[in-house]
Amino acid sequence: MTTAIIGVGNIGGTVARELASGGEPVLLSATSSDKVQKLAAEIGTPATAALDNRDAVQRADAVILALWLDPMKAVIDEVADLLPGKLVIDPSNPIAIAADGTVSRTLPDGQSAGEVVASRLPQGTRYTKAFGTLSAPLLSSGANRMVWVMGPGSCSMAGG
Ligand SMILES: NC(=O)c1ccc[n+]([C@@H]2O[C@H](COP(=O)([O-])OP(=O)(O)OC[C@H]3O[C@@H](n4cnc5c(N)ncnc54)[C@H](OP(=O)(O)O)[C@@H]3O)[C@@H](O)[C@H]2O)c1
Repeated sequence: MTTAIIGVGNIGGTVARELASGGEPVLLSATSSDKVQKLAAEIGTPATAALDNRDAVQRADAVILALWLDPMKAVIDEVADLLPGKLVIDPSNPIAIAADGTVSRTLPDGQSAGEVVASRLPQGTRYTKAFGTLSAPLLSSGANRMVWVMGPGSCSMAGG
């Protein structure tokens, strides 16, 4: 199964390294093609730098949107026609972190990031939340290997 990872920052970079270390093909995309090329070169096979977000999604079975909520909305709009039939994985939390480290909620109380993202996805897209409950360093130190396990109508990760 090929996974597109859009956003190669803390979460996207970590998940890309861990999936690739388990032999899973990953296609990388971000705003900066330099960062994408650098990460793909660092990981080596089975990581590939996609040409852009649409190229990554087009060539993948699953898509991890490793983005903050506002850019994620724009990226969903950008690739929406390519999403039906694919699995979208969303790590987002509705938070903003100020320069002094202060964390604030970016959505009204009672509204979840999952609700906002799911409502923008076209019909026929499979959607799940994942990777949102651990910090990137913890995600990395807690895993040696990640492999997607697909079942009818569901997906999970196995690690060891
Ligand atoms: N950091 C954590 O430990 C952590 C833990 C749990 C959940 N999360 C969630 O994970 C998400 C990402 O957080 P992060 O810390 O990984 O953020 P980050 O390090 O700032 O990375 C964000 C990535 O998004 C890319 N990006 C922005 N706009 C884009 C666009 N239009 N097209 C393609 N790529 C675009 C950036 O690319 P460029 O750098 O090239 O602009 C960057 O690679 C957030 O929703 C956050 O709530 C984070």
